[in-house]
Amino acid sequence: MRKDRMILRTPLPDRLCHWAMVVCFFLVALSGLSWLFPSLNWLNGVFGTPQMARVLHPFFGIVVFAALVYLFIRFVKYNLFEKEDRIWLENVKSVTAGDHSKPLRIGKYNAGQKFMFWGIMGLICVLLISGLVIWRAYFAHLFPIPVLRVALLLHAVAGVGLMLLIIGHIYLAFWVKGSIRGMVTGYVSHAWARAHHDRWHDQISGKGADKTKPGSAR
Ligand code: HEM
Repeated sequence: MRKDRMILRTPLPDRLCHWAMVVCFFLVALSGLSWLFPSLNWLNGVFGTPQMARVLHPFFGIVVFAALVYLFIRFVKYNLFEKEDRIWLENVKSVTAGDHSKPLRIGKYNAGQKFMFWGIMGLICVLLISGLVIWRAYFAHLFPIPVLRVALLLHAVAGVGLMLLIIGHIYLAFWVKGSIRGMVTGYVSHAWARAHHDRWHDQISGKGADKTKPGSAR
């Protein structure tokens, strides 16, 4: 892979943050699942012992939240909805059929990725707030039982919702060939950018963008 012929899509600090967060997310998600479904109780060993899972689950959850705050700050400008997103939404059927013949004017992220971005950010906020309320070691005693019940329900629903969203995210990351390589090495090819993010490619190849900052155009 010749880097001078590739486009920087995701800089190193963002990639490190994404992958470190993935590890923490899996530990938190698997320990959470172990308490939700009795048949998955065996998963409570992901942190070593069931007791360690109880102690560490909230701390790792806060790490996931902090990493997502960082990614929010870095990526929010690419995930604001624009009028061109309508074209992608109107053609979602042909996109999922793998047809890239039409110019869809897709920016750095497509409308589907933007929905996913806002879904992840919304759900992690619900998980953080409800998680703090039910955190027995520090805060749970400050709240009446009915509040704890609602918070527990919200925490479980948001947790399952986020896991389902992430399963979809992982499926699509594998489905769009070249996108995982972009998140691992940071670089994508011109052909990949043209096929999947044509407006972003136009911008970074000089048609109206700052060429000194590869990958920075919307
Ligand atoms: C094995 C697990 C995962 C894989 C393979 C994966 C893969 C990827 C890839 C390839 C991208 C870049 C997409 C592109 O350049 O167009 C990406 C972006 C992203 N991922 Fe993941 N991911 C995983 C888990 C997660 C988890 C657990 C979260 C959050 C809880 C997450 C949140 C994000 C976010 C916020 C972005 C930026 C997307 C945007 O700004 O619209 N990922 N991921």
